[in-house]
Amino acid sequence: MKKLPENLSPNNFEWGCATSSFQIEGGTTAGGRVATIWDDFCAQPGRIKDASDGSVACDHFHRYAGDVKLMADLGFKHYRFSIAWARVVNADNTVNMAGIDFYSRLLDELAKYDITPNATLFHWDLPSHLEGGWLNRDTAYRFADYTALVAERLGDRLPRVATLNEPWCSAFLGYDLGVFAPGHKNRESSLSVAHHLMLAHGLGIQAWRSRLSQTSLGIVLNPELCDPLTTKPEDVQAAKMAEYERNDSFLNPLFGREWPSMLLDQMGSSLSDRQAGDLAITSEPLDFIGLNYYTRSIARAPSSSEDAKRGYTFVPPDAADKTKQLTDIGWEIYPEGLKRVVNNLTQNWPLPPIWITENGAADNTPVINGSCDDDMRCSYITQHLEKMSELIAEGTDIRGYYVWSLLDNFEWAHGYSERFGVVHVDFETQVRTPKKSALMVKALLKS
Ligand code: FCB
Repeated sequence: MKKLPENLSPNNFEWGCATSSFQIEGGTTAGGRVATIWDDFCAQPGRIKDASDGSVACDHFHRYAGDVKLMADLGFKHYRFSIAWARVVNADNTVNMAGIDFYSRLLDELAKYDITPNATLFHWDLPSHLEGGWLNRDTAYRFADYTALVAERLGDRLPRVATLNEPWCSAFLGYDLGVFAPGHKNRESSLSVAHHLMLAHGLGIQAWRSRLSQTSLGIVLNPELCDPLTTKPEDVQAAKMAEYERNDSFLNPLFGREWPSMLLDQMGSSLSDRQAGDLAITSEPLDFIGLNYYTRSIARAPSSSEDAKRGYTFVPPDAADKTKQLTDIGWEIYPEGLKRVVNNLTQNWPLPPIWITENGAADNTPVINGSCDDDMRCSYITQHLEKMSELIAEGTDIRGYYVWSLLDNFEWAHGYSERFGVVHVDFETQVRTPKKSALMVKALLKS
């Protein structure tokens, strides 16, 4: 791609890069920040592939000014980041001004370069002291308190705010599969966890809107596109179950709809915590929806008693299958999926305007003689841009694209072993080196 298609031109389309607090900030005890479930999870042996943690990460807490300058140099005019709840709220629910001050200085720096902030309030780093975490309905009310506090202290400088990032990961990776913090394996609880997250979202929207009416408010989801392994009815059914879990569990409450009966039948016993009126809260009107897209999944009928509880077994892409191209983390490169999943969603739910809030690839190409030729990432990004441009041309209301990520960072359970940045980070020296993909994006934004 030499030139951006007209409908992706930065003159009329929002172009940015994305990060999240725990993945880049470090400084996990600085300024009175309280511990989070991810600090705790990292401290448990065997949880993180390279036994690393977020205590330093990209040291963005101290280097934010340089990082903002870097994004400005690369031509980004929009920046999606998350605010760490644990930095701005003390354990006794009072405001931590040192944390507010950090984000205030970050916003000053962004303003200096005319970069518009796009904030997410919760990107998985839940304060540990909230007893029971998302199993506890009360956490949703604490989230609303936190939201109100951010609205009051920083809100007039935040034009666009998402409540949650990818609540499916919090609920199902965190409480069913146990591969993300807090590491629980209790499938039965995950739908009520999902409910508490969506309740938090709705209460958060109410808390913010009652204080500031001009902010554009939404949520960020990672919708699933799941294809069956074969055309056998049991595989088709399995793929459907995976999509119900990942999509309908969150999109239905957002639009005031009951969960699909098949999910309720599967998980129904755990839903005693839902109260009358909850659906009206979870379906507060949205100004936008953020969608993160990386890959598709393939499912087959459950192949173990463990998976029988879920109704599907995922079939990871086979690295030996030459018909498929994989990124370094093993995810299939499937740009057509962006179109298919967005079309599925717009056909089934009355979506507000869409922002693609994350898209990118793990490409672990090293820096050699000062340059990093991450050709796979370059091609991944351009192929997805082409599909997004087609979607817009076909009438889908997509208003922005954020590449994940500005920097190589702490990739959750993979630690620092998978690199998603368009800028390389040497974690020994903290030296940042823009990769070929960053220079490609810079050239495209100029074109
Ligand atoms: C998404 C997360 C983001 C990052 C990418 C690779 O699911 O939102 O933090 O880890 O995956």
